[in-house]
Amino acid sequence: MRLFLDTASIDEVRRAARFGVISGVTTNPSLLAKEGGVSYRERIQEIAAVIDGPISAECVSRKADDLVREARELASWHPNVVVKIPIDEEGLEAIARCTREGIKINTTLIFTTNQALLASLAGATFLSPFVGRLDDVSYDGIELIRQCVELVETQGLKAQVLAASLRHPLHVMQAALAGAHVGTIPPSLIPQMLKHPLTDLGIQRFLDDAKTAGLL
Ligand code: E4P
Repeated sequence: MRLFLDTASIDEVRRAARFGVISGVTTNPSLLAKEGGVSYRERIQEIAAVIDGPISAECVSRKADDLVREARELASWHPNVVVKIPIDEEGLEAIARCTREGIKINTTLIFTTNQALLASLAGATFLSPFVGRLDDVSYDGIELIRQCVELVETQGLKAQVLAASLRHPLHVMQAALAGAHVGTIPPSLIPQMLKHPLTDLGIQRFLDDAKTAGLL
């Protein structure tokens, strides 16, 4: 499973980029709203200058014609832009039309396998099932990832499953084991995924013994 960073903060992108594990970025209007009025276009271009991979920018239009127009505009910002479109009737039409024009689509706000099937048949590059938000309403978000992966594999579909709304390290591990092609994670998850008390204790013990052995 590849990892994308789920943020609109250029500082967070730069900090995470140094680890060499992030191969794309996902943004959405809520993440952009935290950035205090920054231009969306400039921010996407700044991010694309740091991470050489798919950078998702999300449409806010509600009608298919407007979504297609907006998608063309977002896609013109940088060759690596992938346009996020929410899955509903207008969105599905827009996905099909954008795909025919060669615009790459990340279908967002997926909560059922049928939505994933439709988005995939319409030509979406990425399917984004939301794990945490399903868990929030007492459904099993990771089970949705499992089903979407099975759908793509058994039906020989081209779309990649992008596990979104991952909230904690267990989500990341379970999404990876379920076969998600990509997981998008908030920056705070990287240190959480790294941390283990036995690693810290082990480093300290090796340092102490290195001193005893005269290495330090
Ligand atoms: C990414 O594509 C999604 O917009 C994001 O992961 C949603 O996460 P949230 O449910 O924590 O807001």
